[in-house]
Amino acid sequence: MTGPLGKDLLALEPLTAEQINLVLDTAEPFKEISERAIKKVPTLRGATIVNLFFEASTRTRISFEFAEKRLSADTVNVAASGSSVQKGETLVDTARNLEAMRIDMVVIRHGASGAAQFLADRIESNVINAGDGTHEHPTQGLLDLLTLRDHFGNLAGVKVCICGDVLHSRVARSNIWGLKKLGAEVAVCGPRSLMPNAIDELGVTVLHRIEDAIQWADALNILRLQLERMTAGYIPSLREYNRVFGVTRERLDRAPKDVLILHPGPMNRGVEIDSDVADGPHSVILDQVTNGVAIRMAVLYLLAGGNPKLAEAAKGALA
Ligand code: CP
Repeated sequence: MTGPLGKDLLALEPLTAEQINLVLDTAEPFKEISERAIKKVPTLRGATIVNLFFEASTRTRISFEFAEKRLSADTVNVAASGSSVQKGETLVDTARNLEAMRIDMVVIRHGASGAAQFLADRIESNVINAGDGTHEHPTQGLLDLLTLRDHFGNLAGVKVCICGDVLHSRVARSNIWGLKKLGAEVAVCGPRSLMPNAIDELGVTVLHRIEDAIQWADALNILRLQLERMTAGYIPSLREYNRVFGVTRERLDRAPKDVLILHPGPMNRGVEIDSDVADGPHSVILDQVTNGVAIRMAVLYLLAGGNPKLAEAAKGALA
C-alpha cells in the first residue's frame, strides 16, 4: 500500500506537479488548525515519529514538532550531541534501534547529501528529508511555493529569482524543481563563485547583477550566505557582498513594481538582506514560517495515508 507521495518525501525533483499541488491543497485546511485556541486534531493519534536532527535547526525542527503534536502523534527528538552517534554509531544502526522500539516515521536533517535516501532505502518507516547537505530541503520548497501561491494565486508565469549562495543551497534546488513544475519562470542571481557549475542544466536564467534580478522579478527568494559550508574564499568580505549583492531598500525603490521578499532563514541581516527589507511591507518571511507548520502537517498526513499501520487513523481526519 503506497500513498499519493509514495513511502517517503526525499526531494521535489521526482514529484509531479499533481503531487506538489496535492500537498499545497492539503495544507490549506491544516492552516486553520493552528489558528484555533486548542490546536490539536486526532489525525495521527498513536503514531510515533522520531525527529533526527544531526545539524542545527530552529524553524524546521520546531515546526515539524508542532505539526506532529497538532496531529496528536507521539514525538521524540534526537540530536547527534547526547546520542550514541557521538560514540561512533552509524546512522542506519541508530535508525534500526529506533525501529526496534516500534516507530512509524523518521524526519531527518543531516549534513551529508543523500543521507535521507540512504536511510529510506534501509528502514521500513516513512522518511522525510528535513534538509540533506547541499541536495534538497523539500518541505522548505513546499512552504515557499505555498507562500508564493497565497500571494499570486497561481504560479504559472510568475517570475521568481533565487538570490545569493546558490552553490551551497538545498533550498535553492528544491525551489527550482518545485517552481518549474508549477510553471513559474525561475532565475538565479549571485556571484559566479557561488553558482554551481551545472546551473545551466537546471533550466533557469542566470543573472549576475542584483539590480537586474530586482528589475526582472515578481518575487525574490534571498538565500543565506552559508559561511559554515565555505571551505575557500568565495567572497572578498561580507561588507563587499552586501555592497554588490545585498537586497537593500534603495535598490528595491528603483524597481518598476513591488517585489515580494522571501528568505528561508536564518537571515544574515545586513549581508544578503537589509533589516528594512526583511521587516518591510513586502516581506512574507514570517508567513513562510507560519506556512511551514501547515505544509509539514500535510506531508505527515499524506505519508500516513499510505502507511498500513497509520492509514486507518489518518482516514477521514479532514472530514
Ligand atoms: N529554513 C530552515 O531550514 O531553517 P532552519 O535551519 O532553522 O531549520
